[in-house]
Amino acid sequence: MDKDVYGPWAVVAGGSEGVGASFAHQLADAGINLVLIARKAGPLERTSADVRAKGVEVRTLQLDLLDPGALKTIRAVTDGLEVGLLIFNAGANTYGHEFVGSELDRVQGVIDLNITAQLALTHHFGEAMKERGRGGIMLVGSLAGYMGQARLSIYSAVKAFSRVFVEGLWLELAPYEVHVLELVLGVTRTPAMERAGLRMDIPGLNVADPDDVAREGLEHLADGPLWVAGGNLATAEKRAAVRDRAGLVRGAHEASQRLLPKE
Ligand SMILES: NC(=O)c1ccc[n+]([C@@H]2O[C@H](COP(=O)([O-])OP(=O)(O)OC[C@H]3O[C@@H](n4cnc5c(N)ncnc54)[C@H](OP(=O)(O)O)[C@@H]3O)[C@@H](O)[C@H]2O)c1
Repeated sequence: MDKDVYGPWAVVAGGSEGVGASFAHQLADAGINLVLIARKAGPLERTSADVRAKGVEVRTLQLDLLDPGALKTIRAVTDGLEVGLLIFNAGANTYGHEFVGSELDRVQGVIDLNITAQLALTHHFGEAMKERGRGGIMLVGSLAGYMGQARLSIYSAVKAFSRVFVEGLWLELAPYEVHVLELVLGVTRTPAMERAGLRMDIPGLNVADPDDVAREGLEHLADGPLWVAGGNLATAEKRAAVRDRAGLVRGAHEASQRLLPKE
């Protein structure tokens, strides 16, 4: 990590736990100051204390990115800072449900976090990076974004949105030396996944470590528009195939039923 390219400040939206905390630690190791955003005070304070101990400046923002005033609050803390890197990591599925019969306002919450909030931060921080002629934007995506899944149809679709959106943004910002990357993750052992009851002990299942995928993402920031982390490239390629979607979607559905907690 070159702090002359991606520093002196990085904003990690979802920077308190799991992959987000790994990003924070690795950026601090590179001497980059941090603005960490998350909802729960405990993990946020723990991570910020740990990374502050590495000698960088840390500002914490305990807020829900779904709050309508989130960007205003973020700007109040970051407007005076030179932010060279934005990582949008907070993107989990907050509502896994069959679509018909679901509560539309909760469906909207998944869209608002993974699309609306992500676009708002990318739009805001991307502008200053473009003017400065350097920087990086990493959006954390998912293998889910390659294929529709029952009970996860909205989550899969918002991750597909991000993956395609990044390709256009990557082209748009490349002439300004702003590196844009969609970091695609497969199953990764994070506190959020453990709380969600995801079964990660299935024989043969590839489960990645948060530190490893965060490191891959940071190492490949300039290799956009897409990087599939955690040894999941072959799976992504298989899921992206155009032929026999019905067979592919059904096969993946059966596999994910073993992974997801029972309703
Ligand atoms: N883990 C996996 O298996 C996996 C697989 C594929 C893709 N991904 C993607 O990887 C990213 C991170 O994965 P993860 O879910 O395992 O999480 P994580 O990296 O362990 O942590 C998520 C972070 O986001 C914060 N966050 C979540 N919702 C937020 C909100 N509304 N406002 C502010 N902060 C929020 C969390 O803190 P608070 O909860 O305190 O707010 C936490 O700091 C997500 O984009 C996810 O879609 C993960």
